[in-house]
Amino acid sequence: MEPNRSVAESKRLHQRALDTLPGGVSHNVRYEDPHPIYIERAEGPHVWDADGNKYVDFWMNHLVSVLGHSYPDVVEAVQKQAEQGLHYGAMNKKALRLAERVQDFVPSAERVRFCASGTEATMYAVRLARAHTGNDVILKPTGGWHGGSTDLSAYVNPPLEQPESAGLPSGSVDDLYGFPMNDTDAVQALLEKHDVAGVILEPVLLTGAGGSLDTSFLQFLKDESEERGFELIFDEVVTGFRVSPGSYQARIDIVPDITTLGKVLGGGLPVGALCGRAELFENTRPDTDISPDERVLAGGGTFTANPMTATAGLKTLEVLDNEPVYQHTEQKASRLRDELNAIYEELGIDAVTKGLSSLFLSHFQPESSLNDIRSIKEETNKEALHEFHTRLADRGYYFLPGHTGSISYQTTDEHIDGFIAAAEDVVATMQSKGAL
Ligand SMILES: Cc1ncc(COP(=O)(O)O)c(C=O)c1O
Repeated sequence: MEPNRSVAESKRLHQRALDTLPGGVSHNVRYEDPHPIYIERAEGPHVWDADGNKYVDFWMNHLVSVLGHSYPDVVEAVQKQAEQGLHYGAMNKKALRLAERVQDFVPSAERVRFCASGTEATMYAVRLARAHTGNDVILKPTGGWHGGSTDLSAYVNPPLEQPESAGLPSGSVDDLYGFPMNDTDAVQALLEKHDVAGVILEPVLLTGAGGSLDTSFLQFLKDESEERGFELIFDEVVTGFRVSPGSYQARIDIVPDITTLGKVLGGGLPVGALCGRAELFENTRPDTDISPDERVLAGGGTFTANPMTATAGLKTLEVLDNEPVYQHTEQKASRLRDELNAIYEELGIDAVTKGLSSLFLSHFQPESSLNDIRSIKEETNKEALHEFHTRLADRGYYFLPGHTGSISYQTTDEHIDGFIAAAEDVVATMQSKGAL
């Protein structure tokens, strides 16, 4: 849908980008029809686009900026660090302190390894699981997103029979199986049939702002992992430090073997980390005599544990630990979800806003209860969601169209009031035009 505000400069920049970047983007999720909006500046709860439009931002940097943009304490710390060097490519105290904070907060974190993205963290996590068990097969929820690594981008079983990308070696396709969330029978059958190295999943469906999983299902996976000896991997790239300092595992008191982290941990700068039982990381050590066929490469890379990211991460964790960030964001998001759902009910619109903690997403014309990643992705009216977000952008509320929204520590009740009024107006318009 064409925006109804002036976005001529974004359009011009996109036309220019088409000659250089395939499709005009470097990350496909940032593409939007008819063209992406170019953002020039971000501060607090706001972003400004290349045409000077100002928005209350709910995308918040891929759900990273839980404190809001350019949180003053974080900016000040990062500026000071920049004067002392951007990166040394060597061990440094700040990165060590960040690893220690992860260890303090996250129950499964006996040992920590940094990398530069969530994608790398999940890739290394499944490698650790394979190396430790000697098995190849990895199970993941059908439709679950864990980054774009070769190991995690394919399915072999219905309902999604296609790999997510061409160019994957057949081995990676053969060794990855999907299961429906909360379906213990399906998982049990896969565990009976294969020698499984690990099960990786987000312990709560926040990426699609869906419902939370049954804790009993997660406990079943934990029990099975102990009985059968596979590694249980919680992908907390989104939930890590967003739902509590101990992440989601602390909330439900289930400790996985391996946890992957990213996003919030880097305080706005690139980060990934994997952590877990100390024993699992023994063969990653460079200081012991491990035979080459047992050594595991997990973590690392040029920009790993750089002091800029570590500084932003440390300051962010400090604020999360000392200020009522979770209380603030959860109370506002809960109000927003409730008020949106009340509007849908009042207008007789078939839609539901889901989410947990500070995240939310409206699903239009859902065909099921959406407690499953595949159904969240496939069984809703995506065109309506896209139109909803585009029309909201015309009224000054920014989402990456089709994607989850997030409340930050700098989002106020006034922002929510304005957003609710705009959303009511938008859905009423869409209803009157027959789009809902
Ligand atoms: C659950 C989950 N795991 C892993 C990733 C990959 O992280 P990154 O984009 O930092 O590579 C994402 C990214 O959105 C994610 O949502």
